[in-house]
Amino acid sequence: MIKLSKILKEQLQVALENAFPKSSKKICDSGSRLDPQLVSASKPEFGDFQVNGALSLAKIIKQPPREIANAIIEELLKNQDFLKICKKPEIAGPGFINLTLKDEIIIQEIKNLLIDDRLGVPLVKEPNSRTKVSPVIVDFSSPNIAKEMHVGHLRSTIIGDSLARVLEFRGYSVLRLNHVGDWGTQFGMLITNLKRKAPEVLTKPNAINIGDLVNFYREAKKHFDEDKNFKDESRNEVVKLQNGDQASLKAWKLLCEQSRREFKKIYDYLNIKITERGESFYNPYLQEVVDELDSLDLLVNDQGAKCVFLTDFLGKNGKPLPVIVQKSDGGFNYATTDLAAIRYRFRTSPHGDGACRLIYVTDEGQANHFAGVFRIAKLANWIPANAQIEHVPFGLVQGEDGKKLKTRSGETVKLRDLLDEAVDKAKIDLCNRLKEECREESDEFIENVSRTVGLAAVKYADLSQNRITNYQFSFDRMLSLQGNTAPYLLYALVRIAGIARKGGTFGKLEYHIEFNKSQEWELAKKLLDFDRIIMEVEEELLPNRLCNYLFELSQIFNRFYDQLSVLKANEPSRSSRLALCELTAKTLKLGMNLLGVSTLERM
Ligand code: ARG
Repeated sequence: MIKLSKILKEQLQVALENAFPKSSKKICDSGSRLDPQLVSASKPEFGDFQVNGALSLAKIIKQPPREIANAIIEELLKNQDFLKICKKPEIAGPGFINLTLKDEIIIQEIKNLLIDDRLGVPLVKEPNSRTKVSPVIVDFSSPNIAKEMHVGHLRSTIIGDSLARVLEFRGYSVLRLNHVGDWGTQFGMLITNLKRKAPEVLTKPNAINIGDLVNFYREAKKHFDEDKNFKDESRNEVVKLQNGDQASLKAWKLLCEQSRREFKKIYDYLNIKITERGESFYNPYLQEVVDELDSLDLLVNDQGAKCVFLTDFLGKNGKPLPVIVQKSDGGFNYATTDLAAIRYRFRTSPHGDGACRLIYVTDEGQANHFAGVFRIAKLANWIPANAQIEHVPFGLVQGEDGKKLKTRSGETVKLRDLLDEAVDKAKIDLCNRLKEECREESDEFIENVSRTVGLAAVKYADLSQNRITNYQFSFDRMLSLQGNTAPYLLYALVRIAGIARKGGTFGKLEYHIEFNKSQEWELAKKLLDFDRIIMEVEEELLPNRLCNYLFELSQIFNRFYDQLSVLKANEPSRSSRLALCELTAKTLKLGMNLLGVSTLERM
């Protein structure tokens, strides 16, 4: 309904200007307009929209808000176009105006959505327009080479993918970047270990088989800590790598490839598309970044290290915190790389990506890091005037005991094991249900349903939480058919698919629609709200808003379907209710697709 609310807002603005010409001229002269403050109604009994502007205007105009509201309504009632859309407005409380849409408008809007694949969500630009929309970058997942891809990376992957999907659907060109940790001093010991343990991989093609890289890392670390020769060699190896030594580079590439293969398995399993552009990509720009900061007089030499002191970031001692951009040994760090990345991403091509918005999805433990580098980038003028740069933080993943997620034997949980367990548990639930319902299904059906449900449950459990809060990982909760879970939403869709199988025809070109039950109106109005929710997710980057909406939609649909007959109803109710079922299915499918969750026809 965003189109409709735009029209209403315009009509309200005109009404305001006509009712209060003097004040609006004053405000107009200062470059803005009186704001009617139109929002969706907070409760159904308040109608469809609420106009809150009279209250804040009361202070400017110095008149009681109810009087102002009355004057606005008088003007609205003179406008024939407004009267085509809304019933007679009502004043509520201290001076709110409640607006209720006319029945025929709601029916018309429902008809529009039935033939609109975008369900009312506008594109950032018209398909044929020539204006170029600059890319949006979503930096997500971003695990580290030869280290565990842990549940934090899983969270980043799931949230980042969903945000990218919403932005893509809005028509942005989205660069999904995997800022893999593929550079740093740890490669010294990794390469040394590789050269000692499996030197043949450097000479023979495809010889690499060092098994589990995470264990390989542990082993290297152990030698590094215990063996002085190993340590010296590792340090030497870092220097060789940085200087572009061929053999060292080859070893580094092999290690990255091995990790990449492991990561790819997880991405494929979760159906995630992402482009790797690791930290090493920015190596050629690191010195430039430091030099530029230096030329801007932003650097301070602190015991040999080059730092930026941010006066608005105070440490515990009340003194400005330093952000080190070049260590005393000349090396660069995580912050330098992120600064180079910001600079590159905003710079126009061919020197960069020319992005208009950067979104970073990581745990909130990195909030200070990002606040610091964003601030430095701003001081250095690397962020264009209209561009946005945002850190999208999320809380920790905890076990059901509220502590860090661990296996029963106390080890960190491997991602693949976690996903497999969700799928296995979904399979057990499914088989139990099939037995109860005396249903026979093929192995293929069972495999497909358990995999879809298991993975959907893991993704949805993560997305449906407000990401800022820590979240407790519970297989039982996420796989339950009750509550705000993926299986609950999937099941609503399955019910609708069942209606089609039992003779309901969907996908008609012409619809005759008449509603006469409150359950129908409630469902219809909920369906009209989808576009607003998507715009909200785009702005606030909170996928849980979409989850909540889809959950409420499923609840309203279930109530409608349990309390009213559809296939057995008489015309025109039968067709009208089928249209609502069809639109509910379309909305749920699109919504879940934007969350990265696959759907099912039967389960
Ligand atoms: N590799 C980092 C980690 O595992 C995350 C990188 C996030 N992206 C960034 N541009 N710093 O914590």
